[in-house]
Amino acid sequence: MSFIEVNNLQKSFGPLEVLKGLTFAVEKNDVLAIIGPSGSGKSTMLRSLIQLEEVNGGSITVDGDNLVSDGVYAKPADSKKIIARMGMVFQQFNLFPHLTVKQNLELAPKLVKKEQAKAYSDRSIELLEKVGLADKRDELPSRLSGGQKQRVAIARALMMNPDILLFDEPTSALDPQLTKEVLSVMKKLAEEHMTMIVVTHEMEFASSVANRVIFMDEGKIVEEGTPRDIFQTPKKQRTKQFLNYEL
Ligand SMILES: Nc1ncnc2c1ncn2[C@@H]1O[C@H](COP(=O)(O)OP(=O)(O)OP(=O)(O)O)[C@@H](O)[C@H]1O
Ligand SMILES: [Mg+2]
Repeated sequence: MSFIEVNNLQKSFGPLEVLKGLTFAVEKNDVLAIIGPSGSGKSTMLRSLIQLEEVNGGSITVDGDNLVSDGVYAKPADSKKIIARMGMVFQQFNLFPHLTVKQNLELAPKLVKKEQAKAYSDRSIELLEKVGLADKRDELPSRLSGGQKQRVAIARALMMNPDILLFDEPTSALDPQLTKEVLSVMKKLAEEHMTMIVVTHEMEFASSVANRVIFMDEGKIVEEGTPRDIFQTPKKQRTKQFLNYEL
């Protein structure tokens, strides 16, 4: 059994069908890149995995536990545990503006876990060191660059010790230099075998860091394979068209 199994996932907003039966799996240690045109449902798919969107049909299983089974959700106490295994990093960082960097990291673990304050504090400093921002621990987010904010957001997601990190276009609000900083942190995580799903327009990152790529269009998976399959020998006309446009 795969770590995450998504089967025939369906989601509509009113009359608009956005996910039209997605089926895919993620193995432990996978770095799965999701590419596709604007509006194809990439964010909706990612948000559905952590129940920021409620789907209308299909199943999501995490490490053998059903979050949704044929459109029926697990009990809240169970779904909470399943979702807690996943961390998410958003395009717009979503840091709390009135909290310092370190407080941003410590907020969620303080709310949900019962460790000693010292344990959070040690871990937050360790993670800020990992993303190269230990010296910014007492700054407010407004005093950071976009790339620094996103690295704080990554450290914050790691505070909960997730088994998988989900990234929704983590660099598309950043200029090329700041993009590089963030991608290098993500590459380091991949080298440490963090399991990740990354929605991205960074084709270079997708082809060099991901081990699998899914191309989505109009709420469906058009093609899936290794970076080599997708970028060098795409089979579907739609994939070729998209890549010609992007590259
Ligand atoms: N809350 C919502 N209410 C209504 N429609 C929505 C909502 N969220 C998304 N949509 C629609 O669902 C479709 C898929 O949106 P989604 O954001 O998942 O696409 P995407 O692939 O992430 O696009 P992008 O690359 O631009 O981020 C779009 O047509 C969008 O307008
Ligand atoms: Mg999106």
